Amino acid sequence: MAKNKKTSRSWGGRFKTAPSPRMQAFTASIGFDIRLFPYDVRASIAHARMLAATKIISAAERDKIVRGLRAVEKELASGRFKPDTSDEDIHMAVERRLIEKIGAPGAKLHTARSRNDQVATDVRLFVKDAIAAVDAAGEKLQAVLVEVASRHPRAILPGYTHLQRAQPVLLGHHLLAYYDMLERDRGRLADCLVRADVLTLGSGALAGTTLPIDRKLVAHELGFARVCENSIDGVADRDFIVEFLAAVALVLTHLSRLANEITLWVSAEFGFAMLDDAYSTGSSMMPQKKNPDIAELVRGKSGRTYGNLIAVLTALKGLPLAYNSDLQEDKEPLFDSTDTALHCLEMTAALLASLRFDEEAMAAAASDPLLLATDLAEHLVAEGVAFREAHEITGRLVRHSLETGVALTDMSDAELTTFCPALAGASALLDAARSIDRRRSAGGTSGALLTRRLRKLERRHARKAR
Ligand code: ARG
Repeated sequence: MAKNKKTSRSWGGRFKTAPSPRMQAFTASIGFDIRLFPYDVRASIAHARMLAATKIISAAERDKIVRGLRAVEKELASGRFKPDTSDEDIHMAVERRLIEKIGAPGAKLHTARSRNDQVATDVRLFVKDAIAAVDAAGEKLQAVLVEVASRHPRAILPGYTHLQRAQPVLLGHHLLAYYDMLERDRGRLADCLVRADVLTLGSGALAGTTLPIDRKLVAHELGFARVCENSIDGVADRDFIVEFLAAVALVLTHLSRLANEITLWVSAEFGFAMLDDAYSTGSSMMPQKKNPDIAELVRGKSGRTYGNLIAVLTALKGLPLAYNSDLQEDKEPLFDSTDTALHCLEMTAALLASLRFDEEAMAAAASDPLLLATDLAEHLVAEGVAFREAHEITGRLVRHSLETGVALTDMSDAELTTFCPALAGASALLDAARSIDRRRSAGGTSGALLTRRLRKLERRHARKAR
């Protein structure tokens, strides 16, 4: 390779003096993009094979390059090869080491390629794997939600609006709300994959190449569904990272909502569930404490995934075409959100599976007959009263109960019918379990609907587990 000795850089030719070490330390991405090495090697092998298939290099050169790249990969994996900041980034590090190992053929690898299309390719390969990993972790948490719901098929707790007790619901129904959030998260990941799954290698620095490359061959070898249509967009586009970060931010939003509910449920004030010793922490001062740290950290970590999304959006905003070094700032947020999502999904699943729900405490909290005031109003509607009127009548009944201290369930028919004749016999409706079973409208909390859905979801996850 025609390397300028004095500057010792693969781009050193046009430079008279060596780079400042301070500049090198500032501009290097090797400290974090070293994580891309398996993708960089994979993409380089595919590139070398294509260069041979199109007769740009010989078969013998290809074989040396491929073998050399595999050896470099092993050295990187074992830590025997430790790139430093003079390597700038993972792309230069791999190429430098390859040339050290195999000599002249190594200097041909970068033919018809730029780091601009190379990094875009590596990052797309990373994102495709990250999508698969986050999706799998999301699916595992879904399976835990189904399992915990199935463990307590009849457990009742108050459903809340405005954090005020609203109506009794089944614990399983409440938990499956999170199942549906995760289902949408997984849908967003699948959607994001469609646009990540595009080969950008072959875009060159920005304008393509004069050499007779075969991009379809590379796409096939790397498992990309398509080849990008525009080389400028190919090197400048990071939308797929924004989409992935946005999908992850919503995953964490959902996890933070569940996490917050868990912190409430395990508090003495709620007492709906108990933490397992293995998944809770103590206080350094207060010997009696048992804290829901996992839930608090999941809730807290959601913030950094929003920060990561905003960081990349801001790096892209107003950025002129095509490649700019600003784009190097995409990687740390991407890696951090990927790790955060995987850890939080896994720990939320472990925490949830280890919770011991107190069915009696939950039922007691849901036993206030006032939570069934809507049932009375709907009963009147079924008897022909207009809903607004029924609401008004029931409201007066609730006020009467609160003022006299007589529970709705303890009122006689004579007392009830003074509010409306159609209330005769209605106190039989004032039972949480009965109320739940009567909520059979599609998507409602009835036990029959929950059982049917759980059976379906159990089959889905058992099939997947096989
Ligand atoms: N380290 C760079 C990045 O992460 C790779 C591409 C650099 N290209 C360049 N011409 N400086 O984006």
